[in-house]
Amino acid sequence: MRLLQLITSLLVAASAPIALARITNATDLNYEYIVVGSGAGGGPLACRLAMAGHKTLLIEAGNDQAGNVNISVPGYQAVVTQDPKLRWDIFVNHYQDQQRAMRDPKYTWETAPFEYHVGPDPPQDATPRGILYPRAATLGGSVTHNALIWILPHASDWDSIATMTGDNSWAATNMQQYLAKVLEWQPAEPTDPTILLDDLQLAQHLLGGAATAGLGITPLNALTGLANALLNDPNNELDPARDATEGFFQIPLIMKGGSRLSIHQHIQSTVQAGYPLDVRTNCFVTKITFDQSGSTPKATGVEFLDGEYLYRASPLSQSSSPGTRGSAAASKEVIISGGTFNTVQLLKLSGIGPKDELDKFNISTVTDLPGVGTSMQDRYEVPVNVKHPNDFPILDGCYFDNKPHDECLTKWESNLDILAQRGPYATNGLAATMAVRSDYASTTDIDLYIFGGPINFVGYFPQWGDYAVQDHSYFSWYSLKAHTRNRAGTIQLRSADPLDQPVVNFNYFDTGTTAGGADQLDLETLVQAIKISREALADYSNYGILGGTEFVEERPGPDVQSEAELEQYVKDVAWGHHASCSCSIGTDDDPNAVLDSKFRVRGVQNLRVVDASVFPSIPGIFVTSAIFMVSEKAADVILNG
Ligand SMILES: Cc1cc2nc3c(=O)[nH]c(=O)nc-3n(C[C@H](O)[C@H](O)[C@H](O)COP(=O)(O)OP(=O)(O)OC[C@H]3O[C@@H](n4cnc5c(N)ncnc54)[C@H](O)[C@@H]3O)c2cc1C
Ligand SMILES: *[C@@H]1O[C@H](CO)[C@@H](O)[C@H](O)[C@H]1NC(C)=O
Ligand SMILES: *[C@@H]1O[C@H](CO)[C@@H](O)[C@H](O)[C@H]1NC(C)=O
Ligand SMILES: *[C@@H]1O[C@H](CO)[C@@H](O)[C@H](O)[C@H]1NC(C)=O
Repeated sequence: MRLLQLITSLLVAASAPIALARITNATDLNYEYIVVGSGAGGGPLACRLAMAGHKTLLIEAGNDQAGNVNISVPGYQAVVTQDPKLRWDIFVNHYQDQQRAMRDPKYTWETAPFEYHVGPDPPQDATPRGILYPRAATLGGSVTHNALIWILPHASDWDSIATMTGDNSWAATNMQQYLAKVLEWQPAEPTDPTILLDDLQLAQHLLGGAATAGLGITPLNALTGLANALLNDPNNELDPARDATEGFFQIPLIMKGGSRLSIHQHIQSTVQAGYPLDVRTNCFVTKITFDQSGSTPKATGVEFLDGEYLYRASPLSQSSSPGTRGSAAASKEVIISGGTFNTVQLLKLSGIGPKDELDKFNISTVTDLPGVGTSMQDRYEVPVNVKHPNDFPILDGCYFDNKPHDECLTKWESNLDILAQRGPYATNGLAATMAVRSDYASTTDIDLYIFGGPINFVGYFPQWGDYAVQDHSYFSWYSLKAHTRNRAGTIQLRSADPLDQPVVNFNYFDTGTTAGGADQLDLETLVQAIKISREALADYSNYGILGGTEFVEERPGPDVQSEAELEQYVKDVAWGHHASCSCSIGTDDDPNAVLDSKFRVRGVQNLRVVDASVFPSIPGIFVTSAIFMVSEKAADVILNG
């Protein structure tokens, strides 16, 4: 047995990609293209530019965590967000009124650097920080620590960009080719149903969801019925009615054979194949440089700091190590892909943004673009969490800590070849969803995903990952609202120091977009989501034949029943994690448009933005697939005009 384990761990090590060589010399770096940020937006794009033969520099603030088991094990999707080697602790405001913000039990205070108190009654002298918004600074960006969920955008997400800009290359039918390009390197597969069906109490909950979603599975054929339901693919490309189809679905994950596989491996393969791609990790870009001698400023390259963990949002940052200054030049273009928050920060520090804000920080304006850092969107998410008197058997032996007692890890490591035998760590724990078109949807698209899983998920706060998995007796139905109407989020500079995190205000509900009752429509949708979750919990009891125990609802809790109580619960606890649209594509006559339909930053030359910030409206139910498609499209636009 020992020998077998040794062999399998060697196999795991052998299959882990080799670490990237890093360029150590800081000066005199000349490239055709420079891409800043290796996440969902920047990673695929840099690979394509290099594959087309162009000398490309991909700059990433974080380092390469290839081989880190936190990343490769899907079951570690919560704990990986706590890994200090990857994480940036970004804090945001859902509401600017801090008294109101503190109604959220996730509201966080800092008691000492990177030590936190969560919830009311903080110790004296603690500093209020707001709500944690996890981000990853590492090769592959936030995709490297995300929840692996792979859901394709709706056709309407693309068609609306085509209609608005008049650029028909955005039409959903044309965007299909970019999905095909993404699928050349991005595998996806659902959780093996047999892993779930082993746990009858879990199966009973999922049957409750399937019943609420209208599948009509009778208790007599419960398990076969559920197994069939779990064949439903929410990404089915052959179904023209897919985006409007309600029901109960499996969740495809960005994994292969039960191991996370995504953009970081794609970047590594591209380097290893010998394409002219240089990846400079541990390098933080502080400024875009411009040639301002002509009538239009022209981006010429970037200035950066070399060094590990320089951004002060990293728990491993040290104020004593400021990094080593350097610069790189781009003869063709600079492309910014730092993500929704950091792209805005970098543009503003470089003189691109609202002039009055730049003036306040003595940043000389290169081009006055008032829309940079405005119109930000996110989803709203809310949970219903229940507790059983007993643990879910599927989680027996799962300690989520990569220590010898973590039998679920041993199982995952010892069964490389057969997905079904890799056990609960070969899933992210959220294996199935109800897909719902709420009573408040403004199009035919579904606008709610309600996920079920044996997890105590209440949103993000420091150590949320430990909290979510440590007690194995919880089940959650957790809702995610798509096509949100609020577009009132902002990102502003905190200081002119590039290593400080910016000020992020989402301006939730009535403090955000209210025109046409937008805030109330979003709110009602989430209240409906809670009612549907409770319906699924009620339907659970119809499948008592499987023997699951009774449970107690902890959140919202039995005392939260009236419409007003439910609305208050939603306003207090809702969160998001798909921040988008902060540098959006818009029309020529829109003063707030930051980009044109070809990702070009308005008012300057040779500069584009390609990441979650480019969308005019937040796409689909999840964002990664849409950003990957945008990244492939940007490569095509850059290479082929
Ligand atoms: C906890 C969590 C779970 C999620 N789960 C899912 C999911 O299951 N499915 C899904 O579709 N989406 C999910 N998402 C969202 C998705 O992963 C992100 O929206 C997506 O990765 C954003 O892509 P991006 O390219 O805009 O930014 P990122 O992927 O964040 O990439 C930005 C990169 O730029 C680097 N960078 C930033 N500034 C600089 C600088 N100045 N110099 C150098 N480098 C810089 C950063 O280090 C980072 O690597 C999740 C997000 C989180 C946080
Ligand atoms: C890096 O710089 C050092 C000292 O300046 C020099 O000796 C070395 O050859 C350089 N390496 C590369 C790869 O250019
Ligand atoms: C995984 O992440 C945890 C934090 O959740 C960290 O303590 C641990 O060291 C990480 N494991 C590895 C192998 O880096
Ligand atoms: C901007 O410059 C002025 C004049 O030099 C100075 O007084 C002020 O403190 C500066 N402001 C910031 C935010 O650096």
